[in-house]
Amino acid sequence: MESLTLFGRPPVPETIAITGASRGIGRALAIEYADAGRTLFLSARKRERLQDTAEDCRAFGAAVETAVVDVTDADAVRSWLLDAEAVKPIDLLIANAGVSSGTGPNREPETEAGLQKLFDVNFQGVVNTIQPIMPLMAERKRGQIALITSAAGYRGVPQSPGYAASKAAARVYGEGLRAYLAEDGVFITVVSPGYVETDMSGRLAGPRPFLISAEKAARIIRRGLAAGRGDIVFPFAFRLVPLAVSLLPARFGDRLLRRYPYGIAEDK
Ligand SMILES: NC(=O)c1ccc[n+]([C@@H]2O[C@H](COP(=O)([O-])OP(=O)(O)OC[C@H]3O[C@@H](n4cnc5c(N)ncnc54)[C@H](OP(=O)(O)O)[C@@H]3O)[C@@H](O)[C@H]2O)c1
Repeated sequence: MESLTLFGRPPVPETIAITGASRGIGRALAIEYADAGRTLFLSARKRERLQDTAEDCRAFGAAVETAVVDVTDADAVRSWLLDAEAVKPIDLLIANAGVSSGTGPNREPETEAGLQKLFDVNFQGVVNTIQPIMPLMAERKRGQIALITSAAGYRGVPQSPGYAASKAAARVYGEGLRAYLAEDGVFITVVSPGYVETDMSGRLAGPRPFLISAEKAARIIRRGLAAGRGDIVFPFAFRLVPLAVSLLPARFGDRLLRRYPYGIAEDK
C-alpha cells in the first residue's frame, strides 16, 4: 500500500526524545512540548543547563528524564535511546544538537579540526541519533523523526563553508530517509531554520535578518511536525533566498554572499 505518511498525520507524541536540550532551540522545544501526560527524554553535554531545562519542563507537568550524552559517541547515544525505549517507546525523536564555526573575521580559513568537528556533530551526530530508533519505529509502523538542519544548508556560504556543508549533508540524508521510511509509516521531517535568537546565532559577526526567538521557532516546528510536513523552512524568506540565489549566475550569487561580514566567535 502507498505510504500513509504522504497524506496522513503523525500521532500526537506522548514520548519525545531531544538532543541538545540544554539551551537554544532544543531547550525551547522541550518546554514547548512540556505537558502533563507527556514524557521527555532530554540530552546534552552540560549537566547543569540540562537540569535547568528539565526543571522548567517538570513545572509544566511533564515527566522528564535527562542524560549527559555527547552525540558524537555512538555507543552512548544508542544506550541512552534504548534505555528510554525500555521505559516508553519514543513517538518523536528530534536530532537537534549542533555546533557552528566558520572562516575567521579576517577571512582566516577553517581549520581541519574545526571542519571535522562540524561533521562529527552536525552529520554523524544526527546519524548516531537516528540509527538506533529508526528500525524500532519502522517495526511498530509508528513514529516521527525530525532533523534540525539549517537554511544555510541550501547554498554554500563563504562565512561558513563547512557548517553549510555539514547541514546540507544532514538535510539530504533526512530527505532520503523520508522517502525510504514513508512505506513503514514513519514520518521524517527536515527542519531548516533561518536566524533564531540563541547562543549559536549570537556568535555571528553579521546581522541576523528575519531573526525570531527560540520560543517562536519551537512553536513553528511543533506545528509543522503535527501536520506531518516533510520539510519545515522558516521564516518564509529563507525558502525564497536560497532559491533566488541559485537562479543567479554562480559568481554573481557569490559576490552577494561575500558582502555579509565574516567571523563566528567560539562556542563556550
Ligand atoms: N540559532 C540559529 O540561528 C540556527 C539556525 C539554523 C539552524 N540551527 C540549528 O539548530 C540546532 C540548535 O541550535 P541552537 O541555535 O539552539 O544552538 P545552541 O544554542 O548553541 O545549542 C546547541 C545545543 O546542542 C548541544 N550540543 C552541542 N554539541 C553537542 C554534542 N557534541 N553532543 C550533544 N549535544 C551537543 C548543546 O548542548 P551542550 O553544550 O550542553 O552539549 C546545546 O544544547 C543546531 O543543530 C543548529 O545548527 C540554529
